[in-house]
Order: sequence, then structure tokens, then C-alpha cells
Amino acid sequence: MKTKRNWRSKLLLAASLFLATSTSGARAQELTDDQLGAVKNRLAEGATHSWEIGTRTEALIEDDTSSYSVLSNNGLPPSQQAPSSLDEVISIAREVVQNRTKADVKGLQPLMDANGGAAGDPPSIGVAVLLANWTGAGAQDGQDYAGAASSQLEYLLEKVPKSSDGAISHRTEQLQLWSDFVYMVPPFLAYYGVLTQNQSLVQQAYDQCRLYRQYLVDDDAGGMWKHIVMGDNTDSGHWSTGNGWAAAGMLRVLGTIQHSQYSSNMKEQAKNLTNWVSEIHTGIYPHLRTNSLFGNYADDSSSFDDASSTAILASTVYRLAVLAGIHTHLPAAEQCRKALSAPSSNSTSSASSSSTATAPASSSTSAGALEHFTADMWLTPVVNPNQFGIEGEKSPEAQAFVVEMYAAWRDWTAVGSPGANAAGRVHGAGAMSLWVCVGVVLTMLFGM
Ligand SMILES: *[C@@H]1O[C@H](CO)[C@@H](O)[C@H](O)[C@H]1NC(C)=O
Ligand SMILES: *[C@@H]1O[C@H](CO)[C@@H](O)[C@H](O)[C@H]1NC(C)=O
Ligand SMILES: *[C@@H]1O[C@H](CO)[C@@H](O)[C@H](O)[C@H]1NC(C)=O
Ligand SMILES: *[C@@H]1O[C@H](CO)[C@@H](O)[C@H](O)[C@H]1NC(C)=O
Ligand SMILES: *[C@@H]1O[C@H](CO)[C@@H](O)[C@H](O)[C@H]1NC(C)=O
Repeated sequence: MKTKRNWRSKLLLAASLFLATSTSGARAQELTDDQLGAVKNRLAEGATHSWEIGTRTEALIEDDTSSYSVLSNNGLPPSQQAPSSLDEVISIAREVVQNRTKADVKGLQPLMDANGGAAGDPPSIGVAVLLANWTGAGAQDGQDYAGAASSQLEYLLEKVPKSSDGAISHRTEQLQLWSDFVYMVPPFLAYYGVLTQNQSLVQQAYDQCRLYRQYLVDDDAGGMWKHIVMGDNTDSGHWSTGNGWAAAGMLRVLGTIQHSQYSSNMKEQAKNLTNWVSEIHTGIYPHLRTNSLFGNYADDSSSFDDASSTAILASTVYRLAVLAGIHTHLPAAEQCRKALSAPSSNSTSSASSSSTATAPASSSTSAGALEHFTADMWLTPVVNPNQFGIEGEKSPEAQAFVVEMYAAWRDWTAVGSPGANAAGRVHGAGAMSLWVCVGVVLTMLFGM
């Protein structure tokens, strides 16, 4: 009797485990290296605006040369001998600085778009320009990287409007605070401060995060941030990409502080940044939809599904786990990453990576096989990168977010995937494996 019972429960356990594995085998897709390569190629083709170029350089550093990423566990400043994996980033910085020199604008000026617009966007290229200087690229190509970085810095600090308490405007023409700014500017200020031994600039990076949060956080929305306050163009909605920009920017400042010479005397700043990233996660993840995507405005059920913000937010969950040991939202991030990497629901369930199924004739990347990518690997559906209220077709920033999500996931798995099973909100596809786990536990407890 007793033996029989054990037998049955062991059998059931084995069956449940088999089911769990095969379920995740069918659903828990990862992008292949070829597919990620195609994502990066589309990013390279599509990135033309300053923030897209800057975000591309950040994504490439994280993915190709993690030893230079402020988000990975490396002491700062980095080596002055650039590995060849950094070449693409340096060459982007070179093109930007060459064009700036050609434009021959006098006086302090941003790295791009000297004729106005977003004050906050061009500094996103600043880290790449600082790295070009730091690794001695100027000695070979004659470009003045330090001069370009310094002009950009002083332009921001001296020429751009500020609030009375010191928040630097995202726009040149009038004071406007956009959540986007937090990704573009504070990481540049912090990196500048670390490379030039200027702690007050690192503090300035932190203060910009602190001030932006003070103006944009919405306690009535559980800690999500509004998109734009002050000026003629306000948007008090909880734009999901904006929440992602803010969390990802604060994480960069956090990583820069933690890995720098100032880590021990800026512990309180690091702690606050950690809390503010968590606060965004706590506010926004309850709004994840059952299909594991965020709406373009997270708490507006009428807004369209947006894979772009879903990707950048997932990247910030993996990063927060590695930098600060916070695991609360990992199951949700895993669910999002898997959903974004899932095979097309049209293709028959057995048609996995290799196959022919319904593949249109175009590209080499098992075309048409993925639910959230076009045949040539543009992420979809995505918000229009130039008009935040409407759906778009091709989004360079979304391509960068996919690269950042995978780089972050890889760094997280490299340290043993801590918190993969943390208790968290589980929806949709993830619920399936949850029920399988419940089944296993019940089987173990009660046999049958
Ligand atoms: C640099 O200028 C060239 C020629 O105007 C232009 O095609 C290219 O897109 C510019 N590159 C950047 C990074 O702005
Ligand atoms: C440029 O790099 C040199 C080291 O080669 C460093 O001393 C200097 O502070 C850097 N300048 C900036 C603006 O980062
Ligand atoms: C730090 O940077 C700021 C802004 O460029 C500058 O005004 C200040 O003199 C610098 N401090 C040091 C110690 O170099
Ligand atoms: C950290 O946040 C707390 C709570 O908001 C605040 O009182 C404190 O001044 C902050 N610390 C720093 C260094 O800004
Ligand atoms: C999936 O089916 C829909 C509706 O029939 C169609 O519009 C779409 O193009 C299909 N997608 C793929 C990848 O085959």
C-alpha cells in the first residue's frame, strides 16, 4: 500500500516535471544570436535622432563590451586600452564629433542639433564621446573628444533653462521636464564626474534624478511617473516608455556610483536611487496586461499594446536584481522577455526555430516565425518614437531596448538567475507554469 502510493506520487511528480519542461520548451523562447544580430542591424539602420544614436551606443556597450558597461560589475574608470569590441561605439562617437566640428557653430554647443530642440537628448551620446577620449581615439583621428564633451556639459549647465531648484529642462526653448531626460542626461553627468575626478558632477547627476522624481512621481498612481510637466506640452499620463527611461537612467547613475571611487561616500544616494527604481516597478507591474505587454500608457486600458516599453522595463528588473539584490518583479520580467521572444501564434506549435512553416520569402532569420517581430526583426507593436501618443511601425529605440533586455538577462543568468522564482505577480503564459508548480507541490504533499 505504502510503496504503491509512493510509486504513484513519484510517477505524477515525474509527469508534472515533464509537463513543466515541455511547456517552457514550447513557450519560453529565446532569441537566437542571429535574430539578435538582425535586431542590431535594424537598430543601426534606423538610429538617426540624437537620443536613438545615444541609446544605440549604450546598448552596444552593454551587449558587446560588458567590461565597459556601468551596469556590469566592473570598477571605474575602465581600462584606457579599448578592446576591439568597442570599435563600433567609438566610430559612432567619431561621426558625431566630426559632424559637430564641420557645423562650425561657435561657443558652447550640444553634441548634435546645435540649432535647438531637445536640450536633453544629445547628451545621451556623451558616454560614448567620453570613452573615445578616455581610450585615446583622438590621438589617432585628430578629433577633440574632450572638447566636445566639455562643450556639451557646459552648454547643459549654463545655457539650458532650469527650475528654481535646479532641474535642467529637457527642452531649450522653455522649461519642460520630461521623464525621457533621466536616461539621457544624468548618466552622462555621472560618467563625466567619475572620469574627471569631479564628485560634484556625480552629485549633480543624482540631484537631477532626485529633482525629476520629485516633479514627476505620481503617488496617486502607485509611484508611476507622469511623462511631462511644466511648459506648453504637458502630458500627465503614465507613459510606459517614460517610466522605462526613468528607471533605466537612474540605474545607470546607480551603477556608475557603485562601481566608482565615490561608492563609499555616496551610499545614501545609491540607496535612494535603488528605492526610486523599485518604486517605478511597484507602480507599473500591476498594470502588465494578460498578454505580458504594457499598454502605451500603463494604466489606460484603451491605449495600444507596446512591446517597446515592455522590453526596457524588463531590462531594468534584471539590472536591479544584479545591482541591488531586489527580485520582486523577476517573474514578471521573465514572462515579458519570453512573450516578446515567442513564436508566432500562427505558426503551428511544432514549428520551432529551424522550420519552414509559414515563412515569407525575405530574410535569413526564420522569417515570420515570431509573434512580436516582423520578418526582418523589427519589434512590434511599438509606440511611434516621434509621437508618443500613437502607434508606430519601426522604432530604433525599441530595437535598442531588446538588445538591452537580452544583455541584462545574460548578466543576470551569469550570476545564477537569482530570484527567478520570487513571489510576484504572474499573468498569462506564466500562469501556466505556476499551475504546473502548484501541481508538483500538491502531488508531493498528498500523493494521490
Ligand atoms: C553626419 O553628417 C552626414 C552628412 O551630412 C550625415 O549623413 C550623417 O547622418 C551624420 N551623422 C550623424 C551621426 O549625425
Ligand atoms: C580625457 O581623457 C584624459 C585621459 O586620457 C583625462 O585625463 C581627461 O580628464 C579626459 N577628459 C574628459 C572631459 O573626460
Ligand atoms: C566640476 O565640474 C564643474 C562643472 O564643469 C566645474 O564647475 C567644477 O569646477 C569642477 N570641479 C572640479 C574640482 O574640477
Ligand atoms: C534620500 O531620500 C530621503 C527620503 O526621501 C531623503 O530624506 C534624503 O535626503 C535623501 N538623501 C539624499 C542624499 O538625497
Ligand atoms: C498571422 O495571422 C494574421 C491574421 O490572419 C495575419 O494578419 C498575420 O500576417 C499572420 N502573421 C504571420 C507572422 O504569419
